Amino acid sequence: MCGIIGYVGQADSERPLEVAREALARLQYRGYDSAGVVVANSRGLHHVKKAGKLSVLEEALAATPLPPATAVIGHTRWATHGGPTDRNAHPHLSADGSVAVVHNGILENHQALREELASAGVEFLSETDTEVAAHLLARAYDGLGDLPEAMRAVARRLEGAFTLLAVAADNPHLVVGARRTSPLVVGLGEGENFLGSDVAAFVARTNRALELGEDQVVAITATGVMVTDFDGQAVEPREFTVDWDASAAVKGGFATFMEKEIHDQPQAVRDTLLGRMTPSGRMRLDELRVEESLLRSVDKIVVIACGTAAYAGHVAKYAIEHWCRIPVEVELAHEFRYRDPVVNAKMLVVAISQSGETMDTIMAIRHAREQGAKVLAVVNTMGSTIARESDAALYTHAGPEVAVASTKAFLAQITATYLLGLYLAQLRGTMFPDEVRSILRELEQMPAKVQRVIDGEAAIKALAVQMKDTSSVLFLGRHVGYPVAMEGALKLKELAYIHAEGFAAGELKHGPIALIDQGQAVFVVVPSPKGRDVLHDKVLSNIQEVRARGARTLVVAEEGDDAVAQHADTVFWVPQTPTLLAPLVAVVPLQIFACALATAKGLDVDQPRNLAKSVTVE
Ligand code: G6P
Repeated sequence: MCGIIGYVGQADSERPLEVAREALARLQYRGYDSAGVVVANSRGLHHVKKAGKLSVLEEALAATPLPPATAVIGHTRWATHGGPTDRNAHPHLSADGSVAVVHNGILENHQALREELASAGVEFLSETDTEVAAHLLARAYDGLGDLPEAMRAVARRLEGAFTLLAVAADNPHLVVGARRTSPLVVGLGEGENFLGSDVAAFVARTNRALELGEDQVVAITATGVMVTDFDGQAVEPREFTVDWDASAAVKGGFATFMEKEIHDQPQAVRDTLLGRMTPSGRMRLDELRVEESLLRSVDKIVVIACGTAAYAGHVAKYAIEHWCRIPVEVELAHEFRYRDPVVNAKMLVVAISQSGETMDTIMAIRHAREQGAKVLAVVNTMGSTIARESDAALYTHAGPEVAVASTKAFLAQITATYLLGLYLAQLRGTMFPDEVRSILRELEQMPAKVQRVIDGEAAIKALAVQMKDTSSVLFLGRHVGYPVAMEGALKLKELAYIHAEGFAAGELKHGPIALIDQGQAVFVVVPSPKGRDVLHDKVLSNIQEVRARGARTLVVAEEGDDAVAQHADTVFWVPQTPTLLAPLVAVVPLQIFACALATAKGLDVDQPRNLAKSVTVE
């Protein structure tokens, strides 16, 4: 996630910089750890870039104003490769200063390209994957003399996801963009044109836009737009009219960040998976800088986290224990810290956090490290305290999560811990390479499956509206369905202020069944009938037990599970998925339900009462 703006106007003026500043402010929801702009005029390129919020860039621009210009490209960053520092902020200029680029996405083959450029004598100034694109583009431009042609040549060499914008020092009337997987749209003005990560970048100035497809290169001038594929074949882009007001645009057209982030989930999973497999099919976790010998020899993993992140840890426990045969404990960070836990150098502590700033988790990490344990953070925010204070960090690439209650970070955390489990299994030899590959392939199917659940949201929302006066909802699950049940209950508490509890279905008869009364709503997460039959059948029995006592049963079940429908008042079908990966789809109806029910009650789903996104006190 990052926000990008490009603009070309007719004559030198302050307007390009104004357009960029306004766009970056609107795009901050896509990233806000650093920002930068480069303007182009007949005297070349002039840039400013700064780590920190946009206000830091604004201060720098006030102190050292940029000259009037015809074109600009700008960037607001959410760090993925290289922490949030001035040097890693975009734009990145080529060594000879002939071109500047900004980038959103992840260049999967940046390491190989970096080595190739370094051996040709290029010196790198940043730790970003993006900088390779600047150097490659300058070389291609030097040889070809045409910026769009040079961009196509570079785009053909890049792997991964990218939107790139570039401007050249010797042509201040042109901005060129390329896109693969990451977003880019064109805004059509009168005597000026725009490029943006999304229409939020320019909706205040024009509502005419062009859609760009996969693997396309676009060149804009003040009066023209030219689109081609990566081979230079002209493409006719589709024009559309933007009917959002500017504030809705920031939320991608959704009424709330919560809805937007639920819809971002396929992308969050996809981005977290990007670049983790070598061409030979082996897993790699580049950023994992813990010695392999330690990862081979640890005899226990302790996961520490709070809130939703802790439920991601519970899901991870099932997968890692099964794949790696290492005992995994999951503990709330604040409980771990103050109970005198047995910690030693043979154990690996995995700290999961979206913000990287949760004080309870920070204190637990410090305690574990003082006792000699290595700490690996699964974290969404580069440069955060948890990322910095841990021995290693495995990043989830969910992008900024704005709504207080976590959704897309949860799916990204589960995905990242699966990757960790598979990596450990590969390293420790507890799985055959083809088994690891086959699960990775299953994981690659998950974004599309999550999307299918989201596509069916209308039925879930309708039920939520119908149930808006409900005062209590129970959630049951077994195995990986148990943490899903707890997360479903947490979402409902956080968003709708309804009493909700998640139980292990097997525990029902040991207490919770006493709560069942006529009409009590009970969500049940049913395991796949193909996975562990015994679990499936036991959960079906649990449904019958609560139904016999008057419960209204709302069931999340796998498509094709014919046995389940007769026991359920309502079924939400999710695509068939291997048991251990099922939480990625099973939790989505529960998130949609909680969000829709809270909305029906007229509540603020982005900022629920009494809660904070990042709890920075103990
Ligand atoms: C707060 C948030 C939750 C989040 C928890 C842990 O309570 O409201 O949504 O799950 O903190 O946050 P972290 O940033 O460490 O994942």
